[in-house]
Amino acid sequence: MLLFSGSSNQPLAEKIADELKTKLANCEVVRFADGEVRVRILDNVQDQVCIVVQSTSTPADANLMELYQFGDLLKKGKAKKIIAVIPYLAYARQHKARRQGEAVSVSLVAKFIKSTGFSDVLLLEVHDEEVLNFFQIPVINISAEETIARFIDSHRDDFGGADLVFVAPDKGRKKQAEELAGIIETDFAVINKNRLLDSTDMVNSSTVQGEVKEKEAIIVDDVISTGSTVLEAANIVLKNGALHVYLIVTHAVFSRGEPSFWQNSPFEKIYVTDSIFVPKYKQFEKLEVISVAPLIAKSLGNLL
Ligand code: R5P
Repeated sequence: MLLFSGSSNQPLAEKIADELKTKLANCEVVRFADGEVRVRILDNVQDQVCIVVQSTSTPADANLMELYQFGDLLKKGKAKKIIAVIPYLAYARQHKARRQGEAVSVSLVAKFIKSTGFSDVLLLEVHDEEVLNFFQIPVINISAEETIARFIDSHRDDFGGADLVFVAPDKGRKKQAEELAGIIETDFAVINKNRLLDSTDMVNSSTVQGEVKEKEAIIVDDVISTGSTVLEAANIVLKNGALHVYLIVTHAVFSRGEPSFWQNSPFEKIYVTDSIFVPKYKQFEKLEVISVAPLIAKSLGNLL
């Protein structure tokens, strides 16, 4: 088995390699001044099971191009099986045309992943299960819920003294909040959110269903990009009497990146996973990263 790392999240790939008691395979990824990328594989991959770890976070298109090049090179090198491990899948939020004439971008991503040579795909908490239907190769979508639940359970003291309530910032996250509440044996609530379709980053949300009053509210979401969704949710739960508000998000896109902005946000703490690498210049004191490497390594076992 050969485990390759794309350039988007090498620290995670290294941790996965450690979990699998192996070393990263040899390759070279060059980013040119104009942003173009070129991958070179330096190992003999013939008849080998090859795994490529590449998060398709910002810059999404360049990171996808890198992934496609890995697939193509491994196929040309006659690898036995080529597995794409994509902890964060770009374009997953574009899984349906919400208005007439809109592109369903993730369907193209799925097509390219298959056509460039990948035989299997491992995703982590993809935005919507519908995305899986676009892949015409075996695809596994693993959930970070157990990892997150175990983390909260072992850090109970960090979440204030009152009862916990998991809060979904929109209906799409209700299942996640409900399941986490089920594992920890606590309550959940849901915010009714309406996105303004003609805007790229504004949300217009309204009410909370469920009790948050005098509780420690943990907002859970799959992605944080501009932060509009979770900030709106935080304001609503605080207005509804929550004592403190915390945030747990799987994919730390942080497209509004200034650390001071997040450090000064209403959240007591912001927990993210390492599905996306958060560089030093984006980090802040309130941020804590939970690793999904053990989870991914364990799930890979089923594909090898
Ligand atoms: C929406 O359906 C997603 O689950 C996230 O809540 C949303 O995409 C986050 O984006 P932003 O941080 O820009 O509000």
